[in-house]
Amino acid sequence: MLLTGTEGLKALTTAYENGHALAGFVAYNLETVQGIVAAAEARPDRPVLIQAGSSPFKHAGREPLMRLALDAAAHSEAPLGVHLDHSRDLDEITACLEAGYTSVMVDGSHLPFADNIALTREAVRRARDHGAWVEAELGALAGDEDVSTNADASAAAMTDPSQAAEFVAETGVDALAVAVGNVHGFTANPVHLDLDRLSAIHSALPVPLVLHGASGLPEQQLLGALARGVAKVNVNAELRRAYLQAVSAQLPTALPGSDVVSVWSAGRAAVTEAATRIITQLTPS
Ligand code: 13P
Repeated sequence: MLLTGTEGLKALTTAYENGHALAGFVAYNLETVQGIVAAAEARPDRPVLIQAGSSPFKHAGREPLMRLALDAAAHSEAPLGVHLDHSRDLDEITACLEAGYTSVMVDGSHLPFADNIALTREAVRRARDHGAWVEAELGALAGDEDVSTNADASAAAMTDPSQAAEFVAETGVDALAVAVGNVHGFTANPVHLDLDRLSAIHSALPVPLVLHGASGLPEQQLLGALARGVAKVNVNAELRRAYLQAVSAQLPTALPGSDVVSVWSAGRAAVTEAATRIITQLTPS
C-alpha cells in the first residue's frame, strides 16, 4: 500500500517517538524495487521507504523508475512510502510530487546557508500543495551516492546545532538530514559518528533527524543515533553489495546458458535478505 504524505509523516513521527527509525532504501531497477518490497512484506509492522531518487534516475530514467516504485508500493500489502532522495531540482521535485510521492528530500547542502533556506522553503511550499512531507540537509556529507569511494568524513562540513535550529524554523521542514561524521558508501576504517554533536542537534530541533550513509556503520553507532532523534536511516551501498555478491556467485552457473533470470533473481533475493536484516536493526526492542 502506497502511503500518503500524511500517513508517511505519521510513520516517521511514530518511529521518532519510539526510538525507532524508518529504513529508506535506494532502488535502481526492477530487482531492487521488488527486493525492497519483499523485505517490507516480511516485516509489515514497519513502514519502509523506497527511495527512487535523483541518482538512480540517471540510470533508469525518471519516468520508468518513478512509475515502477509507485506501482510496486501500491500493489503491495505492506505500508510503503516512495521518497525522492537528494534532489537539487525543483522541477524534479514537482514531477515526483505530482506523480504521488509520499515525501521528497530537497538537498541544498552544497549551497550557502541563505540559498539552502530559499531552495528548501520553495520545496516545502510545493510539497504542502500535494500533502507530502519534506526532508532537507544541512552540513555536507562526504562520498558518492552510487559508488563507495572510501570517503573521509573529516573533509566534509558537520551540521552546526544552532544553525540547524534556525534552518528548521525558517524552512518548516519535517525532517533534517545531518552530517555528524557519516559518509556515503563503505570506508576502509569504520565510521565514527560524533554522537555528542548529534545529541546537541537533537536537543535544538523540534523535528526527527535523518542519517544518511548508514552502510557499514557499526551497530553500536547506529543504535546511538536512534537514541538521539534519528528516525530515518538511508541505506544504499549495503544493498548494492548484497546484490553484486549474489550476482557474481550466480554467474559461473548462469553464463554457459546465458541465463539472466537466475542472476537477476539471486540479486533480488539478496536485496530482500539484506533489507530485512536492516529493518529489524532499526527497530530495537
Ligand atoms: P550508503 O550508501 O552509505 O548506505 O548511503 C545511502 C544514502 O545515504 C542515500 O541517501
